[in-house]
Amino acid sequence: MTLSGVARVAFVGSRRIFASHLPSMQSYTPAFSRQGIVCQMSVGMKSVTDRLRDSGLLRTQGLIGGKWIDAYDGKTLEVHNPATGEVIANVSCMGGKETKDAISSAFDAFNSWSKLTAAERSKGLRKWYDLLMAHKEELGQLITLEQGKPLKEAVGEVDYGAKFIEFYAEEAKRVYGDIIPATLPDRRIFVLKQPVGVAGAITPWNFPLAMITRKVGPALACGCTVVLKPSEFTPLSALAAAELALQAGIPPGVVNVVMGNAPDIGDALLTSPQVRKITFTGSTAVGKKLMAGAAGTVKKVSLELGGNAPCIVFDDADLNVAVNGALAAKFRNSGQTCVCANRVLVQEGIYEKFADAFSKAVKNLKVGDGFGEGVVQGPLINKAALEKVETFVEDAVSKGAKVLLGGRRHSLGMTFYEPTVLSNVKSEMLVSREEVFGPVAPLLCFKTEEEAIHMANDTNAGLAAYIFTNNLQRTWRVSEALEYGLVGVNEGLISTEVAPFGGVKQSGLGREGSKYGMDEFLEIKYVCLGDMNRK
Ligand code: SIN
Repeated sequence: MTLSGVARVAFVGSRRIFASHLPSMQSYTPAFSRQGIVCQMSVGMKSVTDRLRDSGLLRTQGLIGGKWIDAYDGKTLEVHNPATGEVIANVSCMGGKETKDAISSAFDAFNSWSKLTAAERSKGLRKWYDLLMAHKEELGQLITLEQGKPLKEAVGEVDYGAKFIEFYAEEAKRVYGDIIPATLPDRRIFVLKQPVGVAGAITPWNFPLAMITRKVGPALACGCTVVLKPSEFTPLSALAAAELALQAGIPPGVVNVVMGNAPDIGDALLTSPQVRKITFTGSTAVGKKLMAGAAGTVKKVSLELGGNAPCIVFDDADLNVAVNGALAAKFRNSGQTCVCANRVLVQEGIYEKFADAFSKAVKNLKVGDGFGEGVVQGPLINKAALEKVETFVEDAVSKGAKVLLGGRRHSLGMTFYEPTVLSNVKSEMLVSREEVFGPVAPLLCFKTEEEAIHMANDTNAGLAAYIFTNNLQRTWRVSEALEYGLVGVNEGLISTEVAPFGGVKQSGLGREGSKYGMDEFLEIKYVCLGDMNRK
């Protein structure tokens, strides 16, 4: 399959066919290198940023108590386009002081927001969803500018992200409690669900919009208020989403945004007794630190951390389905998602055929600036990401892996890397042990189902796994045996707002999306009503 297929089915929740009337970007010229030969904004980028500015969506300050605010010391940080190195904008570089004020605003706003009826909160969220959808094209452009993913995929992310707000606008009305049969005749036992309080939400750069809505949606639906810290690499989409939340009538202080000095912001969130919940998506290393830091004030924590997803292709799989599924699972966002297939385990009987068909499909993936026509693979987020991919490939090759395709930096320069397929990969290689977070598909061979399960589970991670088979019994057997939070069967794209997303083992705690995502922002209170028979 061609990668248009990957883009076409980018999110299973919406089964979205990407809009064909996207603004024409053919005139866009990726002119720049961060190393700096050319030092002015390219015409294409300028017209995109102008349009965003005109629509009020290019925000560069933090949001505290409903006001757009500079860093108190006036510091700013540059946000770059990873495809060109151009500076898109300078945003406020905030720290502990601003975060403390954002927490106070969220704490004050909690009083009133949590007391609104569910229907009122639902209305605000629904309006926010409508505005996100009304600005889908601009938001998609913003995501492509700051994150690099191809425009169609970016617009798909807006759809995917907005759907969390729509879903939780509906779910807000379904926070049911319980009545438990009492143990004594004159008593009654009630269970209430109440919002946990102020939530600190820390989000990554790979989904600059969807990871925000996936956290803020359920938080607001439950009656919590939020201090959001988006990634310093991609704060612009978060700020645009926050602007639309204000326009939707979500009251000042309910959503606050601070970005800049990550350790200082993190410390302020972790040490404040007013923050009752930390929700984080990002690396396992940072997740562990946050978990330890949250212990000081015993906060509720949910963590969506790194994965090491196995994609298991059995002899009895349909070859086309397996190739298309593995392609989608591996190359979404150029391999930069926590659920991207990290190891492709292929049974010996189908190995050669699969390796051949898969490599041919990967060869068709067009690499380039996300605004370019037909591009399906954008740049990596930064130089560190590029170097990590290089190190992993070098390690594999030095230990006997064979490069079937790619295996080096792309001739486009910057942080572009060639879509790569490696064969003869072994479990002890770096590329099998850790998340590569790039466009590299390592193929490992196995003989039996037991061996595949053992190889798949032989990792500390446990986020997503994929299996390709036409055997129904095997589908159940293997799905149950895999120590993972999500399993895709004959499907490489399984993320949707209606299903629970989250990992086991060191891939995290808690679930996002679906009705289960609400529990992360709720406390359970037991109320015992005594002496019912008193006259
Ligand atoms: C992630 O990479 O953290 C999220 C991926 C998804 O929502 O599918």
